[in-house]
Amino acid sequence: MIDPFTSSIALPLIAPSILAADFANLGDDCKAAMDAGADLLHVDIMDGHFVPNLSMGPAVCGACRKACPDTYLDVHLMVTDPQMYFKPFADNGANAISFHIEVVDSENHARELADELRQMGVAPGIVINPPTDVEKILPVINAFDLVLVMSVNPGFGGQAFIPEVLTKAQAISKLLKPTQRLEIDGGIGTKTAPLATNAGIDMLVAGSSIFGQPRDQWAAIIQNLRGPKS
Ligand code: DX5
Ligand code: ZN
Repeated sequence: MIDPFTSSIALPLIAPSILAADFANLGDDCKAAMDAGADLLHVDIMDGHFVPNLSMGPAVCGACRKACPDTYLDVHLMVTDPQMYFKPFADNGANAISFHIEVVDSENHARELADELRQMGVAPGIVINPPTDVEKILPVINAFDLVLVMSVNPGFGGQAFIPEVLTKAQAISKLLKPTQRLEIDGGIGTKTAPLATNAGIDMLVAGSSIFGQPRDQWAAIIQNLRGPKS
C-alpha cells in the first residue's frame, strides 16, 4: 500500500472516484482501476444534507477494502456531521478521511477533528468548496496531511470544472510541506488535469473521466492524467 505523504513519492497521484464506478460490479471496477495504474481510490460519501445527494456508507468502503486489501482508500465526507462517521469508516478500511471546512465551528474544532483522526491511525484531510474563501482554510492547513480543493460544487459526478478554484490551489500550494498533498476533485480529465498540476495540485480525483470510459482505455487515461513527465 502506498503512503501518499512521503516526500519521495512520484507525483501527481491519480485517485479514481468510485462514485462513477459501476456499483453493480464495484469490486471488479476497483481492482481494474488499480490494475490500470491508479495510485489509490477516492470514496465519495454524501449524506443528502450537506449535499443534495446520497452516495454510499461505511459498508461500501468495507467492500472496497475487501476487494482491494492493499489499496489506499481516500474517503471524502460530504456530510454535515463528519465526526459521527470517523470510526465507522476507519473500521471499514479508510486510510485518509477528509471533511469540509464549511461544517466546522472554528479553527480549533478543525484541529481537534484532525487530531481525533490521527489517533485512529487515519490521515486527516480538509476540503474547501468553490465558493468558500481560501482565508477560511489557510489558518488550519498545517494540521492536515491532505488539502482537497473542490473544482465542482459537491454532490454529483460528471460536472463542469470550475477553473477559478485554481487561484486558491496556488495560494495553498505555497504553504504546504513536501509531506502534505494538495488534491483536486471534480471535472478532472485530460484537458483539465494539466491546469490543476500547473497550479500546484499533486493528487487528482477523476470519476467520470475514468469510470465513464471503456475499461480497456483506463490505463491510457490514467497515464495521460499523470502528464508528460511521468
Ligand atoms: C462531487 C464528487 C465528484 C467526483 C468526481 O461531489 O466528489 O467530484 O468525486 O466526479 P467527476 O470526476 O466525474 O467530476
Ligand atoms: Zn470527492
